[in-house]
Formats: sequence, structure tokens, C-alpha cells
Amino acid sequence: MRVLVTGGAGFIGSHVVEALRASGHEPLVYDVREDPGADVRNPAAVARALAGVDAVCHQAAMVGLGNGVADAAEYVSRNDLGTAVLVAAMAEARVRRLVLAGSMVVYGEGRYTCPRHGVVRPGPRAVADLDAGRFEPSCPHCGAELRPGLVGEDAPADPRNVYAATKLAQEHLAAAWARGTGGSAVSLRYHNVYGPRMPRDTPYAGVASFFRSALARGEAPRVFEDGRQRRDFVHVRDVAEANVAALESPAAPGVLIAYNTGSGQPRTVGEMAHALADAYGGPSPVVTGEYRLGDVRHITADSARLRADLGWQPQVGFAEGMREFARNTP
Ligand SMILES: NC(=O)c1ccc[n+]([C@@H]2O[C@H](COP(=O)([O-])OP(=O)(O)OC[C@H]3O[C@@H](n4cnc5c(N)ncnc54)[C@H](O)[C@@H]3O)[C@@H](O)[C@H]2O)c1
Ligand SMILES: [Zn+2]
Repeated sequence: MRVLVTGGAGFIGSHVVEALRASGHEPLVYDVREDPGADVRNPAAVARALAGVDAVCHQAAMVGLGNGVADAAEYVSRNDLGTAVLVAAMAEARVRRLVLAGSMVVYGEGRYTCPRHGVVRPGPRAVADLDAGRFEPSCPHCGAELRPGLVGEDAPADPRNVYAATKLAQEHLAAAWARGTGGSAVSLRYHNVYGPRMPRDTPYAGVASFFRSALARGEAPRVFEDGRQRRDFVHVRDVAEANVAALESPAAPGVLIAYNTGSGQPRTVGEMAHALADAYGGPSPVVTGEYRLGDVRHITADSARLRADLGWQPQVGFAEGMREFARNTP
């Protein structure tokens, strides 16, 4: 299969390119980082790039939290206008298969259970609670402490920041394209992706990257809140294989299917900091109690559908992946 990989020069996209090649496909990189003319918002350039292409793997995006609302126009431009231009050109070129880099951020705070009220959706956490070190979200009905559960793909969307809103809109655009053209679209909603070539020290870098940079400077990783916030750290090579599996899966014409893409083994941010510090030989992490207002407490989804439908299995274990990540200090 000849696959156009937008964002193919980026962290995840570059691994997708390698995985496609290893599976006997022909990836073509389309990325402004590599070629200033290869912008997904440029209709003529996209149309040229789509010639002879069987499928598109759309990784290009502006990622991270950025500067919040101040960056809104740039996020919408790159992520949503970019996706709109891309799907319009795909319709014109009759390319019928799209795999999109989705994100867990579309779920917001996720799924929780109250001992009395069952499954509930807590609102944003209050500053007063956070200042007082009360980090667990509480039941919107009775105030009881909640237990985090695994979010399924049919959970309601609840984007809590600009980036999340643009990732959700990308899915809606892809779904509209599928419906309008009979094409098949898959959104892989990635968890926290880590591994070689992860960007570092930018406002958009992930937490694993911040910790590693601190260790490389001989400083302790600074863990926010109480360190017990749960995430699912999934290795970038496993994410790349999920993309290959999605591109090779039998087409489901006319619809977008979403798959949570995680390791299936939630870890706390504190555990992750310890794993990296151990691999480095210290210093040990410190828990600071600081917080960022936009952060959600726990993000852990159920990736069972991806395993069942596409036969995908993560191959890189947490300890092994973190050891490799610590060793690969850029
Ligand atoms: N890293 C994560 O943990 C994570 C989690 C969830 C979702 N995602 C999604 O995965 C995808 C890849 O992210 P990443 O972590 O590899 O980030 P990245 O910044 O390393 O890669 C993105 C690439 O897209 C390119 N790009 C940006 N705007 C472009 C445009 N207008 N035209 C062409 N190319 C453009 C950039 O040059 C870059 O190479 C994104 O869609 C992101 O939203 C990432
Ligand atoms: Zn309750």
C-alpha cells in the first residue's frame, strides 16, 4: 500500500513511517518540518502529494497545551483547517482510507464511580480544592471521593482545552468525509505516547520527557499534585504498529471507528518518575503538590476494542520501555 503520512517527520509519524516500511508498504512523508511546501493546509500541494496514494495516515498537528486560548487560532488552523483541506483533497482524488491520530484528551476527566451514585462525570476541579491538596475529583451530587474507571470509546466527548477541542473536531471532519464519500476512517485515540525521538523541553513536551531532562541535568524529577494521578504510557513503536494494523484492517465504508490506543496498564505519574530515576541511577523524584489548572486527574481508557478488532497487542513493557527511554537521552 502506498501511504501518505502527514507529520511523517515528527515523533510518532517517523515511527509510523518505519513500521509501514517494515511491513512492506510504501510510506510517503508529508511534513512542513521536512519541506516547507508540504503543509496540510495547502490544497494544491496536498492534491499533488495524493497522486497514486492508497491511504492517508494523518499525524500532522500542533500538539500539547500550548499557551491556551492565546494559541487557539493556530491550533484550529493547523489541526482543523488542515484536516478539512486534507479530506477535501482525498474526496477529489478518490482516496478512500484514512487513519487519524486521535487523542484521549477528547474525553476530558473521564469515567468515575461514586459509591452511592454509580458512574458520574465530575466537572473541572476547583482551585480551592487543588490549593488544599484535594486532588481527587469528587461526586457532583454528594461530594464523595470517586474511583477512576476505564473510559470506553462510547463515553461522551468532553474536551477541556483548545487542543482537545481541535482533536475532537478532526474526528468529526473525518466522519463527515467517510459519510460523504463512502471512505473508511479510523481514529486511534492515543494515550501518553513515549519513546525514542520524543520532543523535549518545549511547552508541548510530555511529562516523561520533562523528567528525563531533569535527570540529565542531575536534578530530581518534580512530580506535580501527589504523584498518584493515573496515566497510560504507551510506547511509540506500539502506537506505530497500531497505525499499520488500522491501515491494513478490512474497510468499514462510510463510518469513522474510534479506538483507544493504550498499553492497558495504567501507571501513576509518580511510578513513572521512579522508573526513570531508577534507570538513571537517581536523583529520586520529589512530589511538589504543584498543579496545572488544565490538567485532568486520571486519564485511563480501555483499549480492549483495538485488541479485539485489529488483533493489536502492545509489545513494549513499561519497565523495559522506560529503561530504554532513560538511556536515549538526546
Ligand atoms: N505525543 C503524544 O503523546 C500524543 C498523544 C495523543 C495524540 N497525539 C497526536 O499524534 C500526532 C503526532 O504527534 P507527535 O507527538 O508526533 O508530535 P510532533 O510535533 O512530533 O509531530 C507532528 C508533526 O506534524 C508536523 N506538522 C504540524 N503542522 C503541520 C502542517 N500544517 N502541515 C504539515 N505538517 C505539519 C510537524 O512538523 C511535526 O513533524 C498528532 O496528531 C497529535 O495530536 C500525540
Ligand atoms: Zn455521589
